Amino acid sequence: MKLLPFNDYDLKTPRILDALNEASRSLAELKGFANSIPNQHILINAITINEAKDSSAIENIVTTHDSIYKVLTESGFKEEAAKEVVDYRSAIWFGYEFIKDKGFINTNLLVKLQSMIEHNKAGIRKTPGTNLVNSKTGEIIYTPPQSEKEIRDLLKNLEDYINEFDDQTDPLIKMALIHYQFETIHPFYDGNGRTGRILNVLYLVLNSLLDSPILYLSNYINKNKDIYYKLFTEFREKNNYEDWIIYILKGVEETSKYTIELIKRIQSEMESYKEEFMTKLPKIYSDELLDSLFYEVYTRINYIEQRCGVTRQTAAVYLNQLVDAGLLEYEKVGRESIYKNTKLIDLLSKF
Ligand SMILES: Nc1ncnc2c1ncn2[C@@H]1O[C@H](COP(=O)(O)OP(=O)(O)OP(=O)(O)O)[C@@H](O)[C@H]1O
Ligand SMILES: [Mg+2]
Repeated sequence: MKLLPFNDYDLKTPRILDALNEASRSLAELKGFANSIPNQHILINAITINEAKDSSAIENIVTTHDSIYKVLTESGFKEEAAKEVVDYRSAIWFGYEFIKDKGFINTNLLVKLQSMIEHNKAGIRKTPGTNLVNSKTGEIIYTPPQSEKEIRDLLKNLEDYINEFDDQTDPLIKMALIHYQFETIHPFYDGNGRTGRILNVLYLVLNSLLDSPILYLSNYINKNKDIYYKLFTEFREKNNYEDWIIYILKGVEETSKYTIELIKRIQSEMESYKEEFMTKLPKIYSDELLDSLFYEVYTRINYIEQRCGVTRQTAAVYLNQLVDAGLLEYEKVGRESIYKNTKLIDLLSKF
C-alpha cells in the first residue's frame, strides 16, 4: 500500500481547486452560522442523532427515531439497531471531547471509537481473512493488508499525516485522502466505514474548520452508495484520485448547505414552540424549561428537576401541563415515564 503524503499527485488541478473553493465557502458559512446560535448543545445533539442514523444505514443498520429515543432513555428498551445508533453518537461525543482536550488524533483514539461502535474489544485485526466483498455478488473487491504489523505501520503513517499541520495541502483535500487511506487500510474486522466517517468530522474540528461536530457526509453518501464504493476502487486501481477528492468536496459543499437548512428549521421550530408555550402556559414558561425540552428528543421528570432547579413535584406538574397543552407526548417505556418532543422528532425524521 502507498504511504501518505501522496506527493506524486497533483492536488491542485483546476477541477479540484474549483470544488475546493465552493466547499470551503459553504463550510465557512456553516461554521459562522452555527456559532451564532445560542444553544449549541441542542444543535449538536439533534444533528448527531441524524448522522448516527444515516451512517449506520450505510451499513444497513436501519431504525426509527422512535426506537432511538427509547434506547436513549436507558429504560432497558432493547433494539439492536437503535442501540448501535446511540453508541455511534456517543462515539462522536467521545472523539470530540478527546480532540478538544488533547489537540491530536491517534491510533488509540480510532481503536477506542471502533470499540464504542461495535461494543467489543477486538481492536486492530490480528487474524487474516478480511476482504471487501460485493454484497450482491459475493465477489472479492479488495483485500486490505493482512498482517497486524503492516496495519499498525500504516496507521502510524496516517496518524503522522493527520497531525501534521505545516504542509501545503488544504485540510479538506487532506480529509478526502485520509478517508480513502483509512478505509483502504481497513484496520478493523468491522465498523471501518463508521469509524472513518467519525474521523472525518473530528479532523474538521481539529483543523478549526468547525467548532463543533456538525458536518456529516453520510446522508450524501447514502443517496448514492454505489458511487462511494466505485470511487474507492477507481482511486486504488486506476489512480483516479481526482474524482474521489471532488466527490468528497462536493459532499462537503452540499452537506454544509443542507445542515444550514436543518439548523434554520430547528431554530424556527423552537421559535414557534416558544410562542405556543408562552401563550398557552405563561405561568410556567422559562427559557431553561424550553431549552430542556429541546435538549434531547425526549425528557423526563428528573431532567427537569436538575436543569430547572425545581422539586420533583413541580417538574411533574410542568410536564403534565405541557402534555395537556399538546406540546409534549407522554409515553411509558418499561418503567420509565417519558415525555417526547414530538414536534422535534417529526422535524428530524423528515429531514
Ligand atoms: N473498494 C473499497 N475500498 C476501500 N474501502 C472501501 C471500499 N468499498 C467500501 N469501502 C469502505 O468500507 C466500509 C465498510 O467496511 P465495514 O463493514 O468494516 O464498516 P462498517 O462501518 O461496518 O460499514 P458501513 O460503512 O457500511 O457502515 C465502507 O463504508 C467504505 O467506507
Ligand atoms: Mg460492517
